[in-house]
Amino acid sequence: MSLMSGTTARTESDLPIESVYTAASLDGFDPADKLGQPGSYPFTRGVYPSMYTGRPWTMRQYAGFGTAKESNERYRQLVEAGTGGLSVAFDLPTQMGYDSDAPLASGEVGKVGVAIDSIDDMRILFDGLPLDKVSTSMTINAPASTLLLMYELVAAEQGAPADKLTGTIQNDVLKEYIARGTYIYPPKESLRLISDIFAYCSNNIPRWNTISISGYHMAEAGATPAQEVAFTLANAKEYVRAAQAAGLDVDTFAPRLSFFFVARTTLLEEVAKFRAARRIWARIMKEEFGAKNPKSQMLRFHTQTAGVQLTAQQPEVNLIRVSLQGLGAVLGGTQSLHTNSFDEAIALPTQKAARLALRTQQVIAYETDVCKTVDPFAGSYVVESLTNELEEQILQLIQAVEDKGGAVSAIEQGFQKQEIERSAYDQQLATDSGERIVVGLNKFTIPEEEPYEPLRVDPAIEAEQCARLERLRADRDNDAVERALDAVRQAAQGSTNVLIPMKEALAAHATGGEVSNALRDVWGMYNPPDAF
Ligand code: 3HC
Repeated sequence: MSLMSGTTARTESDLPIESVYTAASLDGFDPADKLGQPGSYPFTRGVYPSMYTGRPWTMRQYAGFGTAKESNERYRQLVEAGTGGLSVAFDLPTQMGYDSDAPLASGEVGKVGVAIDSIDDMRILFDGLPLDKVSTSMTINAPASTLLLMYELVAAEQGAPADKLTGTIQNDVLKEYIARGTYIYPPKESLRLISDIFAYCSNNIPRWNTISISGYHMAEAGATPAQEVAFTLANAKEYVRAAQAAGLDVDTFAPRLSFFFVARTTLLEEVAKFRAARRIWARIMKEEFGAKNPKSQMLRFHTQTAGVQLTAQQPEVNLIRVSLQGLGAVLGGTQSLHTNSFDEAIALPTQKAARLALRTQQVIAYETDVCKTVDPFAGSYVVESLTNELEEQILQLIQAVEDKGGAVSAIEQGFQKQEIERSAYDQQLATDSGERIVVGLNKFTIPEEEPYEPLRVDPAIEAEQCARLERLRADRDNDAVERALDAVRQAAQGSTNVLIPMKEALAAHATGGEVSNALRDVWGMYNPPDAF
């Protein structure tokens, strides 16, 4: 569909983009009057007054595979190459609360991330990395508390006090029920555990971001920009309600809530999406939850460029896509950014590809001029119009979730999942028909492509990891571990914060899987309704 024909171009969602915008497009919205200042409520223009003119976003490359030793080497390479923050990818057994030698773990150990079974593995993972200086994000959800406590214990061994630790655990189980699937416990118990984490961190690890409420995975599953933000903010409202119901004061935990979104190639719409999201969240926190601390009203977020938009065909073209997606995230005011490696549509990124992904961020930060001014699109007819239109669509969708009783109730009715699947289907039809052009995939293709040599994870690492577990169980005081795990079960049965006995158990060399099993013994596991 040609823009020149005066029609509207189809983007990732149904948000029409006009071929020309004028002052009339703002429909009475006067940016000079309504927009507000960067760093001030409702934060449309950014969460900090100076944004990147004060400090560039954190270049935080997601990485992790194989054993703790192999991942530790990659982290050192990334720190050496200039990355500002670490971002740990865990393998599926770790993410599902199983040890590497659990029957369900077979074939998955060390595959999509690093295998972490115990405090010993965590110690190796961060060997030589000063935890009082680096900021570490951990993409872990249902067992987030276990990995955070292992991290705190290892930091203490390094002499890094807990109140100095900075980083984030993803800890967003609601989106796991909707997309991605690494959930363990039923929603009610998951929300209890997440509230315990909020309370534990505000008392013990005050600079830690306790949750990264994510739209990314829903977007990767097919959500449109409006659905991505709306379902994320509806989940966020559920977390705030649960924490308040647990007796926590909103201004105690809300400043440490954080978010995570995708950056698609449709740059204009994505910039508008981030700006609308900030404004909506600020209003929700101030007007619905009574948050008074401006930090409680700030939507601080991490962005990852869109994995689903990478193509295995002509993979070098992904370098251009990731550059544009990264630029969109920066123009939209992200606090932290992961740029995908160009070879990720084929396999785990090679070291060279991972370094090139980081270089992409460094070119945006240091060779362009987009960091020289805050919110460059402010006042733009198109971006302000798209921001307003997206805001309206997002608010309607949040209300639709609230009308179903809130995010948990809507999840149990299959609402979000069905909406996302419908969008995914529409997008696939548009790609298959050629209406939505994907360069190298359905247009500008090359019949004969040279094969690409991917990085392969050595299957022997599973046996190595299981042998380490055997030694750990042989060397530890198993009676002490059993007693500590019983204390976890008792706390889970009661209402005291489960993280306290969990930390004792992990310190006694209980494994992550054993701690998760102790909670499974009491809380059971979530079985999704087969409504969809
Ligand atoms: N002016 C004043 N202060 C500023 C500033 C400015 N311009 N810029 C930064 N700062 C300050 C901040 O206030 C902060 O100080 P504080 O901690 O005392 O408040 C400090 O500098 C660090 O700045 P940010 O907090 O903005 O940046 P961080 O990088 O530390 O945190 C975050 C960013 C979004 C809040 C945090 O939650 C984060 O890092 N998230 C990352 C999540 C992540 O990496 N996820 C990976 C997911 S991968 C996945 O899910 C799997 C796959 O399938 C996709």
